[in-house]
Amino acid sequence: MQKIVVEGGAALNGEVQISGAKNAVLPILCATLLADGPVSITNVPHLHDVVTTAKLLGELGAGITVDEGTLGKGRGMVVDPTTVHSHVAPYELVKTMRASVLVLGPLLAKYGAAEVSLPGGCAIGSRPVDQHIKGLQALGADITVENGFIKARRDGRLKGARFVFDMVTVTGTENVLMAAALAEGTSVLENAAMEPEIVDLADCLNALGANIEHAGSGRIVVPGVERLHGGSHHVLPDRIETGTFLVAAAMTGGRVTVRCARPDTLDAVIDKLKQAGADITVDADRITLDMGGRRPKSVDLTTAPHPAFPTDMQAQFMALNCIADGVGVINETIFENRFMHVSELQRLGADIRVEGHTAIIRGVQRLSGAPVMATDLRASASLVLAGLVAQGATTIDRIYHLDRGYENLEEKLSGLGANIRRISG
Ligand code: EPU
Repeated sequence: MQKIVVEGGAALNGEVQISGAKNAVLPILCATLLADGPVSITNVPHLHDVVTTAKLLGELGAGITVDEGTLGKGRGMVVDPTTVHSHVAPYELVKTMRASVLVLGPLLAKYGAAEVSLPGGCAIGSRPVDQHIKGLQALGADITVENGFIKARRDGRLKGARFVFDMVTVTGTENVLMAAALAEGTSVLENAAMEPEIVDLADCLNALGANIEHAGSGRIVVPGVERLHGGSHHVLPDRIETGTFLVAAAMTGGRVTVRCARPDTLDAVIDKLKQAGADITVDADRITLDMGGRRPKSVDLTTAPHPAFPTDMQAQFMALNCIADGVGVINETIFENRFMHVSELQRLGADIRVEGHTAIIRGVQRLSGAPVMATDLRASASLVLAGLVAQGATTIDRIYHLDRGYENLEEKLSGLGANIRRISG
């Protein structure tokens, strides 16, 4: 099994290009199922979750072409949904990636039936999909859960309806939004997620002929259309990858510019980095963080749906607080079990106390390298960050979690001067 070894101590310096957003490209790939012709997607990051999604679409019968060198637009992928012949998302694929549930809405809306294995719990929490199911039922779907599968059917077209989500759910909003795009009449989705990835999905659907309005607000209006045509879409930059590099720069006292980013999707993160003492300059598609060799100051934060502080940046800021000046308090409100990095950070010498959904972190002068284990994607990122400032070598096991969501992380960090490498064994 592959591992990452990080030798701490180098201040990061230089420029790094941000890849397309994982959590945008996954729903967008699933949305291609709704179209009547090929959909070309650019700025597709090379990630394990993208490969899994392509595999799933292929299994359903879609044609997939990967274009490694779409000039100036990053990697491209063309999905031709006209050959789809199956509506079953099998357990083997869904269990490796929960986002597979995103084929439920499109398959149901376009092909009249979908069978998607129930995702089940995962490392960071129980993560039910009841809102996906209730939302699709509100549009007239007939849904049962049997033998571990969500089985959905419709009689005639789905019917536009008003649906109020019980809680803010990102993929739940995406599933219902995709189905509503092809429904008869207008749907109104209330208490919808406002994440930038929802806006990107709506932009993609609108490029294919949908009429979605107010995506990015808590009330999305979707006048349904009869069909969507083929087309193209450029995926938005990954705000979590962007934030991870900025935290790396802040922790190491360095100066890093992230290129091809979307600063307007990162307000809460940039605000916390400024509180940590970083000098930040923002241009249209770049952010420069200059720490000037200073030690960061501890920050308090509470995760919440966008535009508040993202849960996907919680572990990285925990790593920052571990070596910051002062005591930082982190409240996790989205997932019930998203503190698994705590015990690994403690192996590096961090001083963290957890009380329920709250972690209290007293910054130490120095972490010391040790073998640690990645438990989920963002937890893995926090261990790499901690390794960048720990004295000696930190060896991170189970890095397949990282490959699910960070494109070329160690190459990008090496380019900024980090001493990091991947080893086998
Ligand atoms: N929830 C329910 N019922 C539902 C749906 C959600 O109770 O039907 C609960 C969840 O259990 C959770 C909360 O609602 O407590 C919010 O979960 P949400 O549905 O928003 O999460 P998700 O859509 O499964 C996406 C991202 C996650 C990210 C969360 C929160 C994708 C593919 N995944 O997950 O990304 O943490 O939103 O922002 O978009 C990651 O990239 O590392 C990652 C985990």
